[in-house]
Amino acid sequence: MKEQFMSAKCGSLPAGRHGASGGKKILIANWKMNLSLGQSLNFIKKIAKTKNEVVIAAPFTFLCEMGKHLKRKKIKLAGQNVSQFKEGAYTGDVSARMLKEEGCTFCLVGHSERRIYFKETDKEINQKILQLLKYGIRPVLCLGENLAQRRKKLTKKIITKQLITGLWDIKKPEKILIAYEPVWAISTFQKSKIKHSATTADIVKIHLIIKAALKRLYKNKSKTIKILYGGTVNPKNVKEILKLKIVDGALVGGASLKISSFNAIIKSI
Ligand code: 13P
Repeated sequence: MKEQFMSAKCGSLPAGRHGASGGKKILIANWKMNLSLGQSLNFIKKIAKTKNEVVIAAPFTFLCEMGKHLKRKKIKLAGQNVSQFKEGAYTGDVSARMLKEEGCTFCLVGHSERRIYFKETDKEINQKILQLLKYGIRPVLCLGENLAQRRKKLTKKIITKQLITGLWDIKKPEKILIAYEPVWAISTFQKSKIKHSATTADIVKIHLIIKAALKRLYKNKSKTIKILYGGTVNPKNVKEILKLKIVDGALVGGASLKISSFNAIIKSI
């Protein structure tokens, strides 16, 4: 089983182009709270011709203007977060309907920075996913263990809990994407100057755990759910990671902030 997913071959398709879910590999840039509006518009101008599946999770305030420049382009927009509430007196929050109006077709949920800094719970993350699905926005459920949990060999338990609670009461999983982002592999959480992604063996191992858990939840319907990897993906390691058949794409943080490095990543899928 493991060997099957290590292989990049998929019929006569170019190596690595298609993931285990059958669809084309997808790249999501998570800009976090970086860049200016001017920089973001310049950025999309430079990558606008891409034929690959590229999604940009930009700060809320850039989305509307970026959307105007992305009409009829391959590049899609994502929110980095969404309110778990439909509407009302929730100062500072942005609803799924608002994201829809801004032109978002994807939205990250449960990113480790939201879980760690803003204490988001699996239950809230589940409510956010339900809100997004009501408005036809594809949730990208981010999950992953931290270093202490990894050292205590709790990875499987943590991931499974995040998955089961996050997807609670979600009957139609087709629109969902999962992003496995081990906290210890996210560049900003690493103390050393040289940053490391997870090894390909680690990635395959955990993606198999996620796949098995999804299968238990959704039987055959689970096959089409894309599972992405994130955590120090950069131009140097992206080919090796996306060559893995079980990896349906990548969620890129730091390396998506520079046009040159993100372009190099785009070209490798
Ligand atoms: P890095 O690619 O900088 O490690 O960030 C990963 C991430 O958090 C994407 O959501």
